Amino acid sequence: MEKKFNRTLVTAALPYANGGVHIGHLAGVYVPADIYVRYLRLKGEDVLYICGSDEHGVPVTIRARKEGCTPQEVVDRYNRIIKDSFEEFGISFDVFGRTTSETHRKTASDFFRKLYDKGEFVEQESEQYYDEEAKTFLADRYITGECPHCHAEGAYGDQCEKCGTALSPEELINPKSTVSGSVPVMKKTKHWYLPLDKHQQWLEPWITKDHTEWRSNVMGQCKSWFDMGLKPRAVSRDLDWGIPVPVEGAEGKVLYVWFDAPIGYISNTKDLRPDDWELWWKSPDTRLVHFIGKDNIVFHCIVFPAMLKAEGSYILPDNVPANEFLNLEDDKISTSRCWAVWLHEYLKELPGKQDVLRYVLTANAPETKDNNFTWKDFQARNNNELVAVYGNFVNRALQLTKKYYDGIVPACGELNDTDRATIDEFKNVKADVERLLDGFRFRDAQKEAMNLARIGNKYLADAEPWKVIKTDPERVKTIINLSLQLVANLAIAFEPFLPFSSERLKGMLAVDGLSWASLGATDLLPAGHKIGEPALLFEKIEDSVVEAQVAKLQQCKKEMAEAAYKAEPVKADIAFSDFEKLDIRVGTVLSCERVPKMKKLLKFEIADGLENRTIVSGIAMHYEPETLVGKQVCFIANLPPREFKGGLVSQGMILSAVNCDGTLSVITPERKVAAGSSVC
Ligand code: 2FM
Ligand code: ZN
Repeated sequence: MEKKFNRTLVTAALPYANGGVHIGHLAGVYVPADIYVRYLRLKGEDVLYICGSDEHGVPVTIRARKEGCTPQEVVDRYNRIIKDSFEEFGISFDVFGRTTSETHRKTASDFFRKLYDKGEFVEQESEQYYDEEAKTFLADRYITGECPHCHAEGAYGDQCEKCGTALSPEELINPKSTVSGSVPVMKKTKHWYLPLDKHQQWLEPWITKDHTEWRSNVMGQCKSWFDMGLKPRAVSRDLDWGIPVPVEGAEGKVLYVWFDAPIGYISNTKDLRPDDWELWWKSPDTRLVHFIGKDNIVFHCIVFPAMLKAEGSYILPDNVPANEFLNLEDDKISTSRCWAVWLHEYLKELPGKQDVLRYVLTANAPETKDNNFTWKDFQARNNNELVAVYGNFVNRALQLTKKYYDGIVPACGELNDTDRATIDEFKNVKADVERLLDGFRFRDAQKEAMNLARIGNKYLADAEPWKVIKTDPERVKTIINLSLQLVANLAIAFEPFLPFSSERLKGMLAVDGLSWASLGATDLLPAGHKIGEPALLFEKIEDSVVEAQVAKLQQCKKEMAEAAYKAEPVKADIAFSDFEKLDIRVGTVLSCERVPKMKKLLKFEIADGLENRTIVSGIAMHYEPETLVGKQVCFIANLPPREFKGGLVSQGMILSAVNCDGTLSVITPERKVAAGSSVC
């Protein structure tokens, strides 16, 4: 039997307060959750939307150390940036709290203490890396060394960023503390563990049998954790930033950030609803839904439910609609590589375009698999869908009303077949959008809303009021009436997705109400109602705008790579006589062209002061051939000829510098010299 809920508590993953929010976060968590809560509110349901910043954890301390400030200063700054940008973007949280608040400290501390008193933890000693100079245990991220897999230097104690392998600090070769630079030693330390192995017996059937409706990506991850067998998880850390473990003898230890963060949902609800927060967290007729990204699945489906169950008085999540990841321009979003579109920058650089980004992120929502955001697609969806379909229909309907009826809604006359077919096409929109939103299928739901505008455009194109006005003006009244009803339906249907545009559209229609319940109706605007002044709902985005965004991304990534670049270690010494064997010369490029079917190769004709020569070089991905003609390059003149496919022979090798991002740059003399000059 379907469970009856009387209210819905929606949580969105608490963003870390050590950086801004980017489009990956928005597409994965905040936009879908916002669509969902706006939809529930429009239906008149009792709903709370809870979020806040996640302000503990090692990354905050790392940023503080880098910037020479305190962790508190870091989280104060980012809490403000994140909160303000969410607000400007129309993410309609009921509360945006902080895990450094007093309410949270007490709530998390009491929660731990209750589990401790109930004997729900296992205490265990283990050996961990300790920095003797700085007198501190080291979090995994504070230890670097050589990766045991790809042998890159600078791998972290939890992951090698070069090859992506997850690591534990003991695996690193030649580990070093990033706090003092010294070699860390192993030292015993005590921690409290949540025995997830014991919880598996109820967690597994609860998810795999009682919640078969959960998304397959969520179910898949949970099953694979169960198949591996859950292990106890430490819920404390040796760190000086966080909520102290409220137990005697636990000096220098804090709650693990993943223990305190989800409790943040509870403490933020307490701050919002001090009098009835328990109704929202403990009453079985409350439906709890967590919106998260896929990297948070284990914490929200396994660890947090185990904590709630161990505490004993809380409800468990009814659904956890986790999204996959959004890539950017076909590459993984990465803060450290400066490959991200930050919300606070977007809002500054593309002011007033909140709904465009909301639309594009929902259209490309990574609901079932990783998806991709490109600035070209952003432009195309704006110009070809928002402007050409939605905006165009609205504009035509409103302009015609103004032109023929001075902005007054005409009365609807007798319907003909075209009218009836059109009404038939959109009468189910409410049921369709609701079914999709109830199933967390935001991408398809938005498509349904857009379909209304397509229906409207087709209707106007078929009914041709601008022609009929000359022969049958009475008939046009019906066409415009029905078109305006469709416009009003669009304002309702898009409200959860594009709140700013719906608000503007309602202004243009001069209506306040338009309830969700009336979606699909054809009598939303009564005859005789005077609409407001029509204006364009969306504007075309020019090439230069998106090109500037792509250039900004490339530039930032390049600067970041240069700043982080560490040169390769110097090779073993060679005899000077070995160097003298190399004949390096300067040549002038006479011609340069691509080699058919060899996308990496360029073929050069080089003036070398002798008989000229052909050199084939693998730099085609880095240069347009014509830009090199006339330039001087350095080349090795005494290598044996090398034959390529198709009989092409290279008589030498052009020298290039390999930049930190892998791009190649040919070496050229600082002043022009005679072709064939030696390099010494
Ligand atoms: O992954 C993250 O960004 C975490 N800060 C999410 C925490 S969600 C919740 F548990 F608070
Ligand atoms: Zn590696």
